Amino acid sequence: MNSLSTKHQPPTTFPATRLRRPRMAAWSRELVAETRLHPSDLILPVFVQEGKNRESLVESMVDISRITIDVLEKKSKSASQLGIPAIAIFPVVDKKLKSPMGDEALNPKNLACRAIEAIKSAAPDIGVIADVALDPYTTHGQDGIVEKGQVVNDKTVEMLCEQALVLAKAGCDIVAPSDMMDGRIGAIRNSLEREKFHDTMILAYAAKYASGFYGPFRDAVGSGLALGKADKKAYQMDVRNSREAMREIALDISEGADMVMVKPALPCLDIIHMASQRFDLPIFAYQVSGEYAMLKAAAKHGWINGDAVMLESLTAMKRAGARAIFTYAAMEIARQLHD
Ligand code: PBG
Repeated sequence: MNSLSTKHQPPTTFPATRLRRPRMAAWSRELVAETRLHPSDLILPVFVQEGKNRESLVESMVDISRITIDVLEKKSKSASQLGIPAIAIFPVVDKKLKSPMGDEALNPKNLACRAIEAIKSAAPDIGVIADVALDPYTTHGQDGIVEKGQVVNDKTVEMLCEQALVLAKAGCDIVAPSDMMDGRIGAIRNSLEREKFHDTMILAYAAKYASGFYGPFRDAVGSGLALGKADKKAYQMDVRNSREAMREIALDISEGADMVMVKPALPCLDIIHMASQRFDLPIFAYQVSGEYAMLKAAAKHGWINGDAVMLESLTAMKRAGARAIFTYAAMEIARQLHD
């Protein structure tokens, strides 16, 4: 027992090891914390609608409204002041403007483009992210062009390239293809380069699952009603797979993605972790509408402590390896973190 080699090994047994020691005081917990959530980790998604000075509540999402562009301008300023680095916009497109092909997506004066321009002039320091996908614009609510009951890949990709260019021309800093078509990252990258948008970033929704947690989002933008009983399983990923997610991510990286998204977030902590161990580019996570709705609805009933579970969820995403997180709670969490 007295041999040098054992004497100098760190003691491992009780009472030498009491893992509670550093947990005893708030200051020492701070000192040993491995993960810290900061306002600069957060991205604020917003639903934008036509009109003036109007906010209409999304029923399934406590405290979240669709807002008009003038309200969005004020919101971008406050988000910027709170240290939130970027806003992601999601347009609520007028039914009259929807079509089977989703042509309104290519209109350079559409709601999304006007929202991007408005944010850029109201709060020039905040980054603007916009989805590249056709679902807000199609009468059927699918993310692409439908032929014979299927979303057709290559024709959809051509539209998405045009849509990405329209968004980039409006001033969008990061285009975020959320459609899960094959080959779209490379095609969009080529289009952007060809048109001299060398600095427009691509955030690829690389591992986007066919999830039930998108329900409230589809209520908010009105694609749920259009979609009806249909689903997106022919292009979004099967929840049962994780290795396939790594293939999706590897492909998107090789095609020119600057960062990749895993979505939804809390049901996919394993995917976030696996991706962050394997790849060196930033992995983003999206705390989606259904995750937000669950926490907020339970908190509203007084069944859980809303602030605590929100902070816990977001911290867990960061611990798993997410570099930044899309969350509808970005503003309130940033405020909480500043206090
Ligand atoms: C559209 C899109 C969706 C979300 C982001 N972009 C919905 C979908 O794929 O049906 C979901 C976001 C959320 O639920 O908060 N392609």
